[in-house]
Amino acid sequence: MQNIQSIADGIFYVGASDRRLAKFENLFPIPRGVSYNSYVIVDDKTALMDTADASVGGQFLENVAAALAGRGLDYLVIDHMEPDHAAMVEAVLLRWPGARLVCNAKTVPMLRMYFPGNDAAIASALVVKEGDSLSLGRHTLSFVMAPMVHWPEVMMSFESATGTLFSADAFGTFGALDGAIFADEVAFPTRWLDDARRYYANIVGKYGVQVQGVLKKAAGLPIRTIAPLHGPIWRQDLEWFIGKYDLWSRCEPEEKAVTVLYGSMYGNTASAANALAARIAAQGVKVAVHDLSCVDNSEAVAECWRAAVIVLAAPTYNGGIYLPAGELLDDLKALGLHDRVFALVESGSWAPMSGKLMAAKIGELKNCTVLDQKVTVRGRLTAAQDAELDACARAVAAAL
Ligand code: FEO
Repeated sequence: MQNIQSIADGIFYVGASDRRLAKFENLFPIPRGVSYNSYVIVDDKTALMDTADASVGGQFLENVAAALAGRGLDYLVIDHMEPDHAAMVEAVLLRWPGARLVCNAKTVPMLRMYFPGNDAAIASALVVKEGDSLSLGRHTLSFVMAPMVHWPEVMMSFESATGTLFSADAFGTFGALDGAIFADEVAFPTRWLDDARRYYANIVGKYGVQVQGVLKKAAGLPIRTIAPLHGPIWRQDLEWFIGKYDLWSRCEPEEKAVTVLYGSMYGNTASAANALAARIAAQGVKVAVHDLSCVDNSEAVAECWRAAVIVLAAPTYNGGIYLPAGELLDDLKALGLHDRVFALVESGSWAPMSGKLMAAKIGELKNCTVLDQKVTVRGRLTAAQDAELDACARAVAAAL
């Protein structure tokens, strides 16, 4: 059954949601599913804005056909080549062979890689560059290059008659769309923000500088609607969400808060982490506590983007760092987390080393510091260490 919705005059949502996929990119758990957004513009000319993942390909093609209502497809605009959006390019060209591809110069070699049997269509593509425009009738698309948000070929398309920015992966979020497709219909701040942050930090987080560049370009556009490739569409409170992106892409803490992330084999490091969290909370500070063996690494990464101070607690393991904590630090380096304060809790029964090793990894993160007030747990924390805990808690609160 077709499932299309109007998002602006002459523009239809033709995407679909997948609730069966366990992990996005086969890495990130998505218990709430994910949507692959795509849009059709109907005017004197018709245009399809990106395609979809193959997992929803049948529904997607049905939706496109419904939006076109018997018309042909004149243009297939490719803002992003990653297969979660471009998997159906060949299928679209087979079904609407008259469609002309619209892309930029960096997209062309990728089209040849992924669709080697479509030489003619690729050779006749309309290759656009920054500022070029394409008139469809009342609607006019202009193109904004957005390299590395999140692949090098990414561009955004701005439709001036409706003020619609097709923003590619930017402003996207994990989560299937439950009928309603607009952010103002889905209680976004309470039900979606955590997944939006997790999506940003893990998928786009490494490219904060490039996101900042695109935000500056977007600031000059009269945007009324933001239509991303994943998650809800924005037609209200755009400034609120753009503000989140501004913070996230500058890697500025979203909240004056502390996140406590601990690994613990037998509960002793957990006990110390919880005791420290209680003392931090007693200072009037907002604290969240997570067991790194129970949350996915992507959630821990998102917490590091949200909070200003990160308490990392981990046992010594094989002379190194307990794996989930070590892997988190490696990922934070790969994603380029910067400008955070860390407090450390280390533990070990004969040679506690994890604190020193975690500090060394944190030293590789730009503008990140480690508080001197480290807590060391030998076996289990004792009442004799109250002063040590209190000093760490006070230092954490003072670092906010
Ligand atoms: Fe949703 Fe970079 O693809």
